[in-house]
Amino acid sequence: MKINLNMTLNGKIVTYEIEHDARLLDVIRDEIGLSGTKEGCGVGECGACSVIIDGKVVNSCIVLAASMEGREVKTIEYYNKGKELHPMQKSYIENTAVQCGFCTPGFVVSSINLLERNPEPTREEIIEGLSGNVCRCTGYEQIIKAVEDVRDKKYVEEDKKNE
Ligand code: FES
Ligand code: FES
Repeated sequence: MKINLNMTLNGKIVTYEIEHDARLLDVIRDEIGLSGTKEGCGVGECGACSVIIDGKVVNSCIVLAASMEGREVKTIEYYNKGKELHPMQKSYIENTAVQCGFCTPGFVVSSINLLERNPEPTREEIIEGLSGNVCRCTGYEQIIKAVEDVRDKKYVEEDKKNE
């Protein structure tokens, strides 16, 4: 059965006609065409499909799209600033925190959300904050360092120089 879904997606109020039992991940990728959000395990364990719902990181593979009625959803695409990378994306690249890249959008979304909620996390808080995301090929050390560098304003300052 088709239903209308009204939500705020990446800062814009949108309406889509969706199947009543569609997963949020499938609507984001297949109906809306935002392919940055990935499907890994499909059962809520790897974090590849992480999106932000009302300010919290959620695995979109285990969420019904219909339950997003009236809510605010942000995907990795929200953080694009034209051709400019987000400081967290720059930091992941600079720290070689990416190999195959499949997990990276989920990690970046979770990392940005972590610093929004806690701008000065300790190393332990970073590890805890990213515990819902799994990477099978990059070492976690590089990922933690990438978050620490953004916490320490390394890339924000570079952005300001370019303004
Ligand atoms: Fe959703 Fe793994 S694909 S948690
Ligand atoms: Fe390959 Fe994380 S970079 S799974």
